[in-house]
Amino acid sequence: MRTPARITLGSADGSHAPKLHALITASLEEGRLLPRTLSELTSHAERFVVAFKGRRLIGCAELAPLSQGVAEVRSLAVDPGARGAGAGTMLVNELRRRAKREGFERLCAFTHRPAYFIHLGFSIVPHLWLTEKIFTDCVTCPLFRRCNQYAMIVELDEGRDRPAESPFVPAGAPSAPHA
Ligand SMILES: CC(C)(COP(=O)(O)OP(=O)(O)OC[C@H]1O[C@@H](n2cnc3c(N)ncnc32)[C@H](O)[C@@H]1OP(=O)(O)O)[C@@H](O)C(=O)NCCC(=O)NCCS
Repeated sequence: MRTPARITLGSADGSHAPKLHALITASLEEGRLLPRTLSELTSHAERFVVAFKGRRLIGCAELAPLSQGVAEVRSLAVDPGARGAGAGTMLVNELRRRAKREGFERLCAFTHRPAYFIHLGFSIVPHLWLTEKIFTDCVTCPLFRRCNQYAMIVELDEGRDRPAESPFVPAGAPSAPHA
């Protein structure tokens, strides 16, 4: 009997952009995700953490800076065939580690699925706590003032809600395949 392939994480680069585009586009409606263009994904690929099952790229999430202190989880998506195995949790936890390492104080997410993020240690806050988001994205959104997304944050203070050991495989290591 075959052992199921292990899920590993890696950093994305431009070569992953078509796969990121396909993954995000396939989950747009379900996740009410922001549509992303291939060129935008190519230029921001290094902000993405990607999950692999064996050699197959099955998930992604972007760490998008909103201000000096606040970063946002964007474009979180896991292939429907690979869900429920912890890849989404691993991706968000890796973004938390990365955000903390890069000196951010808070990680936020805008979602219609608050229960998922609460499960991951985030709390619902008023949108006005995240003026960075309002002045960058919300003001140009057709749903501004009619927003049905929850604003969620997790503080990245030392010792609070520290995610478990990283499954991150540095680029170039043998078990970090490219899709
Ligand atoms: C949300 C998503 C990324 C989760 O990926 P995943 O790899 O299946 O997540 P995990 O396996 O890490 O799930 C972790 C836990 O959350 C739970 N969970 C999953 N979806 C949930 C939801 N909508 N509400 C509450 N809990 C949820 C799982 O049951 C699991 O619980 P457990 O740890 O007690 O077993 C995936 O469903 C997806 O890509 N959805 C479409 C896009 C989307 O909605 N993106 C997020 C928008 S902000």
